Amino acid sequence: PKASRIKIRQAGESVATRVKVSGWIHRLRVQKGLVFIVLRDGSGFLQCVLSGDLANAYQTSTLTVESSVTVTGVVNKLPEGKSAAGGIELVADFYSIIALAPSGDDAFTNKVAEGADPSLLLDQRHLALRGESLSAVMKVRAALLRSVRRVYDETHITEVTPPCMVQTQVEGGSTLFGLQYYGEEAFLTQSSQLYLETCLPALGDVYCIQESFRAEKSHTRRHLSEYTHIEAELGFLDFQDFLSHIEMVLTKSIQYVLEDPVAGPLVKQLNPDFVPPQMPFKRMEYVDALEWLNEHEIPNEDGEKFKFGDDIAEAAERLMTDTIGVPILLMRFPLEIKSFYMKRCADDPRLTESVDVLMPTVGEITGGSMRIDDHEELMAGFKREGIDPATYYWYTDQRKYGSIPHGGYGLGTERILAWLCKRYTVRDCSLYPRFTGRCKP
Ligand code: 4AD
Ligand code: MG
Repeated sequence: PKASRIKIRQAGESVATRVKVSGWIHRLRVQKGLVFIVLRDGSGFLQCVLSGDLANAYQTSTLTVESSVTVTGVVNKLPEGKSAAGGIELVADFYSIIALAPSGDDAFTNKVAEGADPSLLLDQRHLALRGESLSAVMKVRAALLRSVRRVYDETHITEVTPPCMVQTQVEGGSTLFGLQYYGEEAFLTQSSQLYLETCLPALGDVYCIQESFRAEKSHTRRHLSEYTHIEAELGFLDFQDFLSHIEMVLTKSIQYVLEDPVAGPLVKQLNPDFVPPQMPFKRMEYVDALEWLNEHEIPNEDGEKFKFGDDIAEAAERLMTDTIGVPILLMRFPLEIKSFYMKRCADDPRLTESVDVLMPTVGEITGGSMRIDDHEELMAGFKREGIDPATYYWYTDQRKYGSIPHGGYGLGTERILAWLCKRYTVRDCSLYPRFTGRCKP
């Protein structure tokens, strides 16, 4: 019978039928009289077995890993206990080579050898992406973005696309990437927050999924120079509503990823012990975190006891989160360690209505706050930070033309993935990661 062309993901529904599959040779094993090919087409992996004349043909000796081929044959369900992806294999009766990949020194396996120096693997990222775990993380990433969009869609929050080329800062001048813009000074955006705020009176609650850029000088497990930033801005709510919304978005998005027929099983494979977050998250105030850190003899950046106003740096934050072992909403940070736009707490003007969401193994995956809605107070914020408000006229106008209580947050896509897929670094969660000294391929 004439074979119908399928993608590997459809092989399970094609048992006992003759099909044609094209892809790349992911693994190759030659045994006397038999050739086993694990074929990869981006939709899955399928073991193909060549036997008899097919296996002995001269051509099979030239086959190499990563060659592209088309294999035709009948899909066979394997007896219980025989291992192959999905418990099925393709018994080939014909195959053809589309393009051979090199052998010898230039062979694929030499270029992306397992356990190779990470910087060599990053140089060969275009090839390394073909590996099982990196490609799995990218599939989960796609599902995560889809799930986040679904949650926002279900809650009637409108997607917008703010500009990447801007003339204002959001998160401090020290991490701005500058660029020449027709002779004017401009920057790559650090956050779309300010633009989202301007959309509230026009579109209601809004979100965006946009690249953010940070010239982070330090090499850490969780900092990229370019990352995919999921940000939302919501109007007419108080701090408690705001916290509940963040929990809901995170919990539901993760739930949808786990329910996804492709991504769910991949998460299981990458992170078998993953515990989905449960609402409500543990709430912890900044001042209580300091107390916790001091009780557990975890020192601040200067090696001393934490005192009010200290930043809780990455290492201490992660140690605390890992010890506590559940998602934490860390709230009410002091004014001086947070950004110019954050609203003060009514009951304690030293503090802000701010929150970081901390997850075990990664620490901060989300940062957000209620925003200053009073014009004068915002001006004082600019002054405190030494920012000239003139270029922010479009932002400060929001406080003139019908100001409202509002708040928003940013989710780091790669950090969520590092937590969800149990990756040591966010670099494993970005297609082509950018960080200090790395802008290729
Ligand atoms: O905490 P951040 O800096 O907050 C903001 O940018 C706010 N303006 C967002 C808002 O309110 N709309 O960044 C938000 C999140 C962090 O929690 C982290 O997950 C991620 O973005 N992030 C990074 N991810 C990778 N590499 C970096 N260099 C990151 N910087 C922040
Ligand atoms: Mg932050």
